[in-house]
Amino acid sequence: MSEQHPDAFVRQQRQAHDRVNQYLLTSLDALPFADLPLAQAMKYGTLLGGKRLRPFLTYAVGEMLGVSLDSLDAPAAAVECIHAYSLIHDDLPAMDDDDLRRGQPTCHIKFGEGNAVLAGDALQTFAFQLLSSASMPNVSDKDRIAMIAELAYASGLAGMCGGQALDLDAEGKRVDLISLERIHQHKTGALIRAAIRLGAYAAGNKGHQALVSLDKYAESIGLAFQVQDDILDVIGDSTVTGKRQGADEQHEKSTYPSLLGLDAAQQKAKELYQDAITALESLQSQGYNTELLRALANFVIERKS
Ligand code: IPE
Ligand code: IPE
Ligand code: MG
Ligand code: MG
Ligand code: MG
Repeated sequence: MSEQHPDAFVRQQRQAHDRVNQYLLTSLDALPFADLPLAQAMKYGTLLGGKRLRPFLTYAVGEMLGVSLDSLDAPAAAVECIHAYSLIHDDLPAMDDDDLRRGQPTCHIKFGEGNAVLAGDALQTFAFQLLSSASMPNVSDKDRIAMIAELAYASGLAGMCGGQALDLDAEGKRVDLISLERIHQHKTGALIRAAIRLGAYAAGNKGHQALVSLDKYAESIGLAFQVQDDILDVIGDSTVTGKRQGADEQHEKSTYPSLLGLDAAQQKAKELYQDAITALESLQSQGYNTELLRALANFVIERKS
Protein backbone atom coordinates (compact mmCIF):
# COMPACT_ATOMS: atom_id res chain seq x y z
CA MET A 1 0.00 0.00 0.00
CA SER A 2 1.60 3.25 -1.04
CA GLU A 3 1.74 6.03 1.53
CA GLN A 4 1.20 9.63 0.66
CA HIS A 5 4.16 12.00 0.86
CA PRO A 6 3.63 14.51 3.69
CA ASP A 7 4.17 17.43 1.30
CA ALA A 8 1.39 16.14 -0.96
CA PHE A 9 -0.95 15.99 2.02
CA VAL A 10 -0.16 19.54 3.07
CA ARG A 11 -0.70 20.73 -0.50
CA GLN A 12 -4.09 19.01 -0.76
CA GLN A 13 -5.07 20.30 2.66
CA ARG A 14 -4.25 23.84 1.61
CA GLN A 15 -6.17 23.43 -1.66
CA ALA A 16 -9.31 22.22 0.13
CA HIS A 17 -8.95 24.97 2.74
CA ASP A 18 -8.53 27.74 0.17
CA ARG A 19 -11.24 26.40 -2.11
CA VAL A 20 -13.93 26.18 0.56
CA ASN A 21 -12.91 29.54 2.03
CA GLN A 22 -13.33 31.20 -1.35
CA TYR A 23 -16.69 29.55 -1.84
CA LEU A 24 -17.84 30.55 1.66
CA LEU A 25 -16.65 34.11 1.21
CA THR A 26 -18.45 34.51 -2.11
CA SER A 27 -21.62 32.91 -0.74
CA LEU A 28 -21.65 34.96 2.47
CA ASP A 29 -20.90 38.17 0.54
CA ALA A 30 -24.00 37.54 -1.56
CA LEU A 31 -26.19 37.86 1.55
CA PRO A 32 -27.91 41.16 2.43
CA PHE A 33 -27.12 43.47 5.38
CA ALA A 34 -23.34 43.28 4.82
CA ASP A 35 -22.83 46.25 7.16
CA LEU A 36 -24.66 44.73 10.11
CA PRO A 37 -22.44 43.42 12.93
CA LEU A 38 -24.37 40.16 12.51
CA ALA A 39 -23.05 39.71 8.96
CA GLN A 40 -19.53 40.50 10.17
CA ALA A 41 -19.89 38.09 13.08
CA MET A 42 -20.89 35.32 10.67
CA LYS A 43 -17.82 35.90 8.54
CA TYR A 44 -15.58 36.23 11.58
CA GLY A 45 -16.80 32.96 13.07
CA THR A 46 -16.56 31.11 9.78
CA LEU A 47 -13.51 32.39 7.98
CA LEU A 48 -10.96 33.71 10.46
CA GLY A 49 -8.64 30.78 11.11
CA GLY A 50 -9.56 27.11 11.45
CA LYS A 51 -8.41 23.97 9.69
CA ARG A 52 -11.43 23.18 7.47
CA LEU A 53 -11.07 19.49 8.28
CA ARG A 54 -14.72 18.68 7.59
CA PRO A 55 -14.77 20.25 4.11
CA PHE A 56 -11.47 18.46 3.38
CA LEU A 57 -13.18 15.17 4.25
CA THR A 58 -16.13 15.95 1.98
CA TYR A 59 -13.79 16.78 -0.91
CA ALA A 60 -11.55 13.77 -0.24
CA VAL A 61 -14.41 11.25 -0.16
CA GLY A 62 -16.14 12.79 -3.17
CA GLU A 63 -12.95 12.86 -5.21
CA MET A 64 -12.12 9.26 -4.29
CA LEU A 65 -15.53 8.33 -5.72
CA GLY A 66 -15.01 10.37 -8.89
CA VAL A 67 -17.15 13.43 -8.08
CA SER A 68 -16.15 16.78 -9.60
CA LEU A 69 -15.11 19.47 -7.12
CA ASP A 70 -17.84 21.86 -8.18
CA SER A 71 -20.45 19.39 -6.92
CA LEU A 72 -18.67 19.21 -3.56
CA ASP A 73 -18.34 22.92 -2.79
CA ALA A 74 -21.87 23.38 -1.44
CA PRO A 75 -21.89 20.30 0.83
CA ALA A 76 -18.35 21.05 2.06
CA ALA A 77 -19.31 24.66 2.87
CA ALA A 78 -22.63 23.64 4.45
CA VAL A 79 -20.92 21.31 6.93
CA GLU A 80 -18.40 24.02 7.78
CA CYS A 81 -21.22 26.51 8.46
CA ILE A 82 -22.74 24.09 10.97
CA HIS A 83 -19.31 23.56 12.51
CA ALA A 84 -18.66 27.32 12.76
CA TYR A 85 -22.08 27.84 14.36
CA SER A 86 -21.38 25.03 16.85
CA LEU A 87 -18.10 26.68 17.87
CA ILE A 88 -19.65 30.14 18.27
CA HIS A 89 -22.34 28.73 20.55
CA ASP A 90 -19.91 26.36 22.32
CA ASP A 91 -17.84 29.38 23.39
CA LEU A 92 -20.78 31.36 24.82
CA PRO A 93 -20.86 32.07 28.57
CA ALA A 94 -23.85 29.73 28.90
CA MET A 95 -21.76 26.89 27.50
CA ASP A 96 -17.94 26.68 27.74
CA ASP A 97 -17.48 30.39 28.39
CA ASP A 98 -14.31 30.73 26.35
CA ASP A 99 -12.72 33.99 25.27
CA LEU A 100 -10.14 32.63 22.81
CA ARG A 101 -10.82 30.75 19.57
CA ARG A 102 -8.46 30.32 16.63
CA GLY A 103 -6.08 32.73 18.33
CA GLN A 104 -8.68 35.53 18.33
CA PRO A 105 -11.30 36.81 20.77
CA THR A 106 -14.36 34.56 20.58
CA CYS A 107 -17.31 35.78 18.54
CA HIS A 108 -19.34 36.98 21.55
CA ILE A 109 -16.34 38.86 22.99
CA LYS A 110 -15.91 40.66 19.69
CA PHE A 111 -19.56 41.21 18.67
CA GLY A 112 -21.59 40.72 21.85
CA GLU A 113 -23.64 37.74 22.97
CA GLY A 114 -26.76 38.66 21.03
CA ASN A 115 -24.91 38.81 17.73
CA ALA A 116 -23.04 35.59 18.53
CA VAL A 117 -26.29 33.75 19.19
CA LEU A 118 -27.75 35.13 15.97
CA ALA A 119 -24.59 34.42 13.96
CA GLY A 120 -24.87 30.76 14.99
CA ASP A 121 -28.57 30.70 14.14
CA ALA A 122 -28.05 32.34 10.75
CA LEU A 123 -25.09 30.10 9.87
CA GLN A 124 -27.20 27.07 10.65
CA THR A 125 -29.99 28.09 8.30
CA PHE A 126 -27.43 29.23 5.71
CA ALA A 127 -26.03 25.69 5.62
CA PHE A 128 -29.42 24.40 4.54
CA GLN A 129 -29.89 27.26 2.08
CA LEU A 130 -26.65 26.18 0.40
CA LEU A 131 -27.55 22.50 0.39
CA SER A 132 -31.03 23.08 -0.97
CA SER A 133 -30.32 25.71 -3.61
CA ALA A 134 -26.63 25.93 -4.58
CA SER A 135 -25.36 24.40 -7.80
CA MET A 136 -24.28 20.74 -7.60
CA PRO A 137 -23.85 19.57 -11.18
CA ASN A 138 -24.66 15.86 -11.69
CA VAL A 139 -26.10 15.39 -8.20
CA SER A 140 -29.66 14.06 -8.35
CA ASP A 141 -32.44 15.77 -6.39
CA LYS A 142 -32.82 12.54 -4.41
CA ASP A 143 -29.21 12.71 -3.29
CA ARG A 144 -29.50 16.42 -2.56
CA ILE A 145 -32.42 15.64 -0.25
CA ALA A 146 -30.40 12.83 1.34
CA MET A 147 -27.68 15.41 2.08
CA ILE A 148 -30.18 17.79 3.66
CA ALA A 149 -31.65 15.01 5.80
CA GLU A 150 -28.20 13.79 6.82
CA LEU A 151 -26.93 17.21 7.86
CA ALA A 152 -30.14 17.99 9.75
CA TYR A 153 -29.93 14.70 11.64
CA ALA A 154 -26.22 15.12 12.42
CA SER A 155 -26.68 18.70 13.66
CA GLY A 156 -29.71 18.33 15.90
CA LEU A 157 -30.78 16.45 18.98
CA ALA A 158 -29.71 13.09 17.51
CA GLY A 159 -26.27 14.49 16.71
CA MET A 160 -24.21 17.55 17.63
CA CYS A 161 -26.77 19.42 19.78
CA GLY A 162 -27.64 16.24 21.66
CA GLY A 163 -23.94 15.63 22.29
CA GLN A 164 -23.43 19.20 23.47
CA ALA A 165 -26.34 18.77 25.89
CA LEU A 166 -24.84 15.53 27.22
CA ASP A 167 -21.51 17.33 27.57
CA LEU A 168 -23.07 20.13 29.61
CA ASP A 169 -24.95 17.65 31.76
CA ALA A 170 -21.72 15.77 32.51
CA GLU A 171 -19.89 18.87 33.79
CA GLY A 172 -18.70 18.42 37.35
CA LYS A 173 -19.54 14.70 37.26
CA ARG A 174 -17.29 11.77 36.65
CA VAL A 175 -18.92 9.82 33.83
CA ASP A 176 -17.85 6.34 32.74
CA LEU A 177 -16.03 5.63 29.49
CA ILE A 178 -19.13 4.40 27.66
CA SER A 179 -20.97 7.62 28.49
CA LEU A 180 -17.96 9.70 27.47
CA GLU A 181 -17.75 7.91 24.14
CA ARG A 182 -21.44 8.64 23.61
CA ILE A 183 -20.87 12.34 24.29
CA HIS A 184 -17.94 12.50 21.90
CA GLN A 185 -19.63 10.48 19.15
CA HIS A 186 -22.53 12.90 19.22
CA LYS A 187 -20.99 16.32 19.83
CA THR A 188 -18.10 15.82 17.39
CA GLY A 189 -18.41 12.45 15.61
CA ALA A 190 -21.83 13.10 14.11
CA LEU A 191 -20.75 16.12 12.07
CA ILE A 192 -17.56 14.43 10.92
CA ARG A 193 -19.62 11.47 9.75
CA ALA A 194 -21.98 13.84 7.95
CA ALA A 195 -19.04 15.52 6.18
CA ILE A 196 -17.97 12.10 4.93
CA ARG A 197 -21.48 10.98 4.02
CA LEU A 198 -22.22 14.17 2.06
CA GLY A 199 -19.17 13.48 -0.09
CA ALA A 200 -20.53 9.97 -0.70
CA TYR A 201 -24.08 11.12 -1.55
CA ALA A 202 -22.63 13.43 -4.19
CA ALA A 203 -21.44 10.26 -5.97
CA GLY A 204 -24.90 8.67 -6.25
CA ASN A 205 -25.06 4.85 -6.23
CA LYS A 206 -21.32 4.42 -5.96
CA GLY A 207 -21.41 6.52 -2.82
CA HIS A 208 -24.31 4.63 -1.30
CA GLN A 209 -22.41 1.37 -1.79
CA ALA A 210 -19.37 2.79 -0.01
CA LEU A 211 -21.35 3.97 3.03
CA VAL A 212 -20.82 0.92 5.26
CA SER A 213 -17.04 1.22 5.06
CA LEU A 214 -17.11 5.00 5.19
CA ASP A 215 -19.30 4.96 8.30
CA LYS A 216 -16.81 2.68 10.07
CA TYR A 217 -13.99 4.99 9.06
CA ALA A 218 -16.02 8.00 10.23
CA GLU A 219 -16.81 6.45 13.58
CA SER A 220 -13.12 5.88 14.26
CA ILE A 221 -11.78 9.24 13.13
CA GLY A 222 -14.71 11.12 14.67
CA LEU A 223 -13.95 9.75 18.10
CA ALA A 224 -10.18 10.03 17.54
CA PHE A 225 -10.64 13.68 16.65
CA GLN A 226 -12.27 14.51 19.97
CA VAL A 227 -9.81 12.33 21.93
CA GLN A 228 -7.01 14.38 20.37
CA ASP A 229 -8.92 17.60 21.11
CA ASP A 230 -9.08 16.53 24.77
CA ILE A 231 -5.36 15.67 24.73
CA LEU A 232 -4.49 19.07 23.23
CA ASP A 233 -6.50 20.77 25.95
CA VAL A 234 -3.99 19.27 28.40
CA ILE A 235 -0.68 19.36 26.54
CA GLY A 236 -1.33 21.66 23.58
CA ASP A 237 0.39 24.96 23.07
CA SER A 238 -2.19 27.73 23.21
CA THR A 239 -0.29 29.74 20.58
CA VAL A 240 -0.73 26.76 18.23
CA THR A 241 -4.23 25.55 19.18
CA GLY A 242 -5.51 29.12 19.35
CA LYS A 243 -7.58 28.08 22.40
CA ARG A 244 -7.05 28.58 26.09
CA GLN A 245 -5.29 25.54 27.46
CA GLY A 246 -6.69 23.71 30.49
CA ALA A 247 -10.28 24.84 29.92
CA ASP A 248 -11.67 21.29 30.26
CA GLU A 249 -10.13 20.79 33.69
CA GLN A 250 -11.35 24.21 34.79
CA HIS A 251 -14.92 23.29 33.81
CA GLU A 252 -14.57 19.80 35.32
CA LYS A 253 -15.30 18.15 32.01
CA SER A 254 -14.88 14.42 31.73
CA THR A 255 -12.35 13.81 28.98
CA TYR A 256 -10.24 10.87 27.80
CA PRO A 257 -7.11 12.19 29.57
CA SER A 258 -9.06 12.86 32.78
CA LEU A 259 -10.61 9.38 32.79
CA LEU A 260 -7.75 7.29 31.43
CA GLY A 261 -4.65 9.40 31.95
CA LEU A 262 -2.67 10.99 29.17
CA ASP A 263 -0.73 7.90 28.01
CA ALA A 264 -3.82 5.72 27.73
CA ALA A 265 -5.69 8.51 25.94
CA GLN A 266 -2.85 8.74 23.40
CA GLN A 267 -2.91 4.96 23.05
CA LYS A 268 -6.67 5.10 22.45
CA ALA A 269 -6.16 7.65 19.66
CA LYS A 270 -3.63 5.29 18.01
CA GLU A 271 -6.03 2.34 18.24
CA LEU A 272 -8.78 4.40 16.65
CA TYR A 273 -6.39 5.37 13.87
CA GLN A 274 -5.73 1.67 13.21
CA ASP A 275 -9.48 0.97 13.17
CA ALA A 276 -9.91 3.75 10.60
CA ILE A 277 -7.22 2.25 8.38
CA THR A 278 -8.82 -1.19 8.65
CA ALA A 279 -12.20 0.27 7.70
CA LEU A 280 -10.70 1.50 4.43
CA GLU A 281 -9.41 -1.93 3.37
CA SER A 282 -12.56 -3.02 1.60
CA LEU A 283 -12.70 0.23 -0.41
CA GLN A 284 -9.05 -0.27 -1.28
CA SER A 285 -9.78 -3.79 -2.51
CA GLN A 286 -12.57 -2.43 -4.71
CA GLY A 287 -9.95 -0.32 -6.47
CA TYR A 288 -10.51 3.02 -4.77
CA ASN A 289 -7.48 5.11 -3.94
CA THR A 290 -7.71 5.53 -0.16
CA GLU A 291 -4.32 7.21 0.25
CA LEU A 292 -5.73 10.61 1.14
CA LEU A 293 -8.26 9.23 3.62
CA ARG A 294 -5.47 7.28 5.30
CA ALA A 295 -3.35 10.42 5.51
CA LEU A 296 -6.35 12.29 6.91
CA ALA A 297 -6.78 9.68 9.67
CA ASN A 298 -3.13 10.15 10.56
CA PHE A 299 -3.55 13.91 10.62
CA VAL A 300 -6.48 13.61 13.03
CA ILE A 301 -4.32 11.99 15.73
CA GLU A 302 -1.03 13.78 14.96
CA ARG A 303 -2.38 17.30 14.71
CA LYS A 304 -1.14 19.97 17.13
CA SER A 305 -3.99 22.41 16.54
C1 IPE B 1 -12.87 22.08 17.39
O1 IPE B 1 -12.92 21.68 16.07
C2 IPE B 1 -14.10 21.65 18.09
C3 IPE B 1 -14.33 20.22 18.12
C4 IPE B 1 -15.34 19.68 17.52
C5 IPE B 1 -13.42 19.37 18.84
P1 IPE B 1 -11.71 21.96 15.09
O2 IPE B 1 -10.43 21.59 15.76
O3 IPE B 1 -12.00 21.31 13.78
O4 IPE B 1 -11.76 23.54 14.94
P2 IPE B 1 -11.21 24.48 13.77
O5 IPE B 1 -12.33 24.61 12.80
O6 IPE B 1 -10.00 23.90 13.15
O7 IPE B 1 -10.93 25.78 14.47
C1 IPE C 1 -16.89 21.13 21.06
O1 IPE C 1 -16.14 20.37 21.94
C2 IPE C 1 -17.76 20.35 20.20
C3 IPE C 1 -18.60 21.26 19.42
C4 IPE C 1 -18.38 22.53 19.24
C5 IPE C 1 -19.77 20.69 18.79
P1 IPE C 1 -15.15 21.25 22.81
O2 IPE C 1 -15.87 22.19 23.70
O3 IPE C 1 -14.14 20.34 23.41
O4 IPE C 1 -14.43 22.09 21.64
P2 IPE C 1 -13.33 23.21 21.90
O5 IPE C 1 -12.21 22.53 22.65
O6 IPE C 1 -13.98 24.31 22.68
O7 IPE C 1 -12.91 23.59 20.51
MG1 MG D 1 -17.76 22.25 24.59
MG1 MG E 1 -15.44 24.26 24.06
MG1 MG F 1 -12.08 20.78 23.54
